[in-house]
Amino acid sequence: MDNKNNITMLESDTTTGKTSRRGFLKGCAYGAGGLMVLCSGLGVAATRQPHIDFYESSENITGVVGKKVLVAYGSICGSTGEIAQAIAEEIGAKGYHVDVFPVDRVKSLDGYQSVIIGSAARMGKLISKTQKFAEKFSNKLAQIPAAYFVACLTMKEDTEENRATVSTYLEPLRQIKLPIGEGFFGGKVDQSKMEYGFQIAFSSDKEGSMADGDYRNWESIRAWGQEIGQKLAG
Ligand SMILES: Cc1cc2nc3c(=O)[nH]c(=O)nc-3n(C[C@H](O)[C@H](O)[C@H](O)COP(=O)(O)O)c2cc1C
Repeated sequence: MDNKNNITMLESDTTTGKTSRRGFLKGCAYGAGGLMVLCSGLGVAATRQPHIDFYESSENITGVVGKKVLVAYGSICGSTGEIAQAIAEEIGAKGYHVDVFPVDRVKSLDGYQSVIIGSAARMGKLISKTQKFAEKFSNKLAQIPAAYFVACLTMKEDTEENRATVSTYLEPLRQIKLPIGEGFFGGKVDQSKMEYGFQIAFSSDKEGSMADGDYRNWESIRAWGQEIGQKLAG
């Protein structure tokens, strides 16, 4: 990953929320072990998390086309930020000024002509800070082009069925604003970056669904970034 654009380090936090029935069942497969730990008395310690370096970047020059794009991403363990950065680089290559921020660090959408919102998924839905971001800025989102992407384990295998499942995760965002494009990508599991409760719960999973693994397909991620860049250019 090329971090030439003024990368800074930020602290992490955790997420909660509600879920659809199908998503809940899927999410249970990933989260049941961890929830058992969370509910069995480890309490606050279980939800604490190691320090995570979240990507934040901003081009220092005015883009050739004179328009600013925001790539805002929701992440718990940091890997979605690297996807956001790769997408930003592809859009930036089209001459746009592109900023990348974690969703909880965005103060305003003023000055942006379009927004890309990306998110990790947990328990069969987007993580809650992504949803909160979209709700907070729903008025502005209604006025400018938006595109969405999800990075998660369901997309470890890029099949029609998995795309259909993950597509449902985006429904709450579609209710706020219909996007010009949607991207579905495999994510990453790094147990050392999870909340300590999940680390304990999943530590014995060396080969199962929550074993460490990086399923991000950079070719398809960058191709999507280029596609969105083209669409923004009209
Ligand atoms: C506790 C937990 C629950 C998860 N639930 C889901 C899920 O329901 N569906 C899914 O596709 N991926 C699920 N994942 C996988 C994450 O979405 C994936 O690892 C993602 O790439 C993490 O992004 P981040 O590193 O930016 O946090 C879950 C991961 C964890 C740790």
